Amino acid sequence: MTIKRWFKNLFPSSVAKVREEKYGCRMLSARNVADTEARAITARVQELGPWFHNYEIASGIWTNSSGRFPGIEYPLGRWQLIEPLLPNVKGKSCLDVGCSSGFFSLKLKELGAAYVLGIDFEQQPQAIEQAQFAARTLGLDVDFRIMSAYDLGTLAKKFDVILFMGLFYHLRHPLVALEAAHAVCAGSMIFQTITMPHKKKLSELDPATITNVHRDSSTMSDDRFPALRFVEGTLDGDVTCWFIPNLQAVAAILRSCGFQPGQMTFTTEKEIIVSCSVIRR
Ligand SMILES: C[S@@+](CC[C@H](N)C(=O)[O-])C[C@H]1O[C@@H](n2cnc3c(N)ncnc32)[C@H](O)[C@@H]1O
Repeated sequence: MTIKRWFKNLFPSSVAKVREEKYGCRMLSARNVADTEARAITARVQELGPWFHNYEIASGIWTNSSGRFPGIEYPLGRWQLIEPLLPNVKGKSCLDVGCSSGFFSLKLKELGAAYVLGIDFEQQPQAIEQAQFAARTLGLDVDFRIMSAYDLGTLAKKFDVILFMGLFYHLRHPLVALEAAHAVCAGSMIFQTITMPHKKKLSELDPATITNVHRDSSTMSDDRFPALRFVEGTLDGDVTCWFIPNLQAVAAILRSCGFQPGQMTFTTEKEIIVSCSVIRR
């Protein structure tokens, strides 16, 4: 008996769990499929690739098993942070803005949401086709559409829960999209973005000082003043990134677009997740 097999026999469940956790996100709805169907699903997954999200689309079949960017473990780590921040979504309507390959929308449906709409536009051309294929394969009724975040106001509908993740810095008009999200938000929003380097703590100037300023006041050059860096070319080789906010700008922009920032999760020193509630106007 090899050492590996001996170890596996000794700790069968822990070995399996470690492998499963490392590999990607399991889906409760992933079905056992016979060989012929498994081959057809695998072939379609490959045809539709590359996938931004790695998750189990049918038992043992993963969408990004080769680990292309952003890697085999994405979005497992992100989901582990997001799930505890979600309100109870049972029976609620949810919107996933910039849903990419659909993982978060599908999870919301698995958690019992009554209606989930996932929208994506342009940068990942096959994303909506991937998400629709995954929804069919998993047997989850999620509405995936090609639509821009800028056009959310055209939906004659309000959502209890909105996800706005990984999108802000990809937009040339981020406040237009946030205002459009506000127009359709009836409850809360989970917002995630990359940021300028920070110390995992938001320290803001006195609201009275930052809301009415003079160009020649020292407040304007204070590190704690809300600021966006504009990227004219590429960010780490990515041509689709435009605005990098500091933490103070994240909070100020959310407020200015009608969202009250609540719990903040400082995932790394260059990223933030904010749970917000809608400010009714
Ligand atoms: C970094 S990915 C984030 C995907 C997902 N939300 C997540 O957190 O894993 C950004 C996504 O936003 C989409 N996107 C870019 N501009 C958009 C727009 N104007 N409206 C809707 N989606 C957009 C891209 O196509 C891409 O799928």
